[in-house]
Amino acid sequence: MDKKTVRDVEVAGKKVMVRCDFNVPIDDRGNITDDTRIVASLPTIEFLLERGAKVILMSHLGRPKGKVDDKFSLRPVARRLAELLDTEVLMADDVVGEDARQKASILKQGQVMLLENVRFHKEETENDPGFAKKLAEMADVFVNDAFGAAHRAHASTAGITAFLPAVAGFLIEKELKALGQALQDPARPFTAILGGAKVSGKIGVISNLLDRVDNLLIGGGMSYTFFKAKGLNVGNSLLEEDYIETAAAALEAAKRKGVNLVLPSDVVVASSFDNDADHYTVDAEGIPDDYMGLDIGEKTIGVYRDIILKSATVVWNGPMGAFEMPTFARGTREIADAMSRCGGTPIVGGGDSAAAVSQMGYEDKMTHVSTGGGASLEFLEGKELPGIASLLNK
Ligand code: 3PG
Repeated sequence: MDKKTVRDVEVAGKKVMVRCDFNVPIDDRGNITDDTRIVASLPTIEFLLERGAKVILMSHLGRPKGKVDDKFSLRPVARRLAELLDTEVLMADDVVGEDARQKASILKQGQVMLLENVRFHKEETENDPGFAKKLAEMADVFVNDAFGAAHRAHASTAGITAFLPAVAGFLIEKELKALGQALQDPARPFTAILGGAKVSGKIGVISNLLDRVDNLLIGGGMSYTFFKAKGLNVGNSLLEEDYIETAAAALEAAKRKGVNLVLPSDVVVASSFDNDADHYTVDAEGIPDDYMGLDIGEKTIGVYRDIILKSATVVWNGPMGAFEMPTFARGTREIADAMSRCGGTPIVGGGDSAAAVSQMGYEDKMTHVSTGGGASLEFLEGKELPGIASLLNK
């Protein structure tokens, strides 16, 4: 990585402000239902504490649209962090107000505090320089470890770097190493599996990966726009009419570039979007008018498994079907299973596929599961992430 990290700066006795992505799911009773992102931030925080830094953490949670809203308070995160770090985590009542500044000013070496949700101020998402400066005034050094928010040019991710020496944390370093290696110097064969609902959300990734991969396996709702591009009937399946030409162009480009782009040869169709709907498996050419495709079929699973098992690098982004319903989860589970056995380097992009892998118990068997949803997608598209571009170069 060409960016400086926490290893490259002196932190002892300094106030170090760390931007984390603590945007975690919290239920109605304030319980965190998945703490993966909090756990992933621990190595940087522990490193800083061990070296005698005064650690000020900040994050967004949800999208409170610039207003203080208790529903989006980071207090549950402070409690979970205190348990994981086995130390007190001081919680500020505000972000750049009296309470935050007062707590930051008396923070001691080896102590941690957490600011309230930075998105309680609309200036955060506006990347307002005045707000970024106020954040910066509380600290001596800035560390960005929020990979999941690195695609956002916000005050706490990018703006603040104008006012403080800014370096990367270990999570950002780890994410860039895993995803960057796959894009720049993958062991071959290199296979990408792309799923999810829409071609529109994945076309940037498809274009970028077509120049890099040996195999591109397509699944999920977006398959049906590809089917239509090939002149197949898709019944009531998800279809993006405006993207049929885009899908056709991707099929052409794959041919031209010698990429083995594979579409499902069979799918599980259902009479409605319901776990208990009437369902059966048909060939891709045989989708009935009043049925919708909700998973990849048995034959497709076999073909995809074979390719995955022979691959040295596999990158996966997007589920193969409506995996939130057990009836249509098989394709997604089988892909996770094949990846876990591939013997090469299996990498899972964030968002839905990461959630599926963790729900299905395959997380520990992957080389890397990204903590970034939109961020990992934009990285795989080849875009520059503003929260990383703005950090100091080595
Ligand atoms: C995410 O969950 O992908 C990140 O925390 C970014 O959240 P956002 O899409 O609300 O910016």
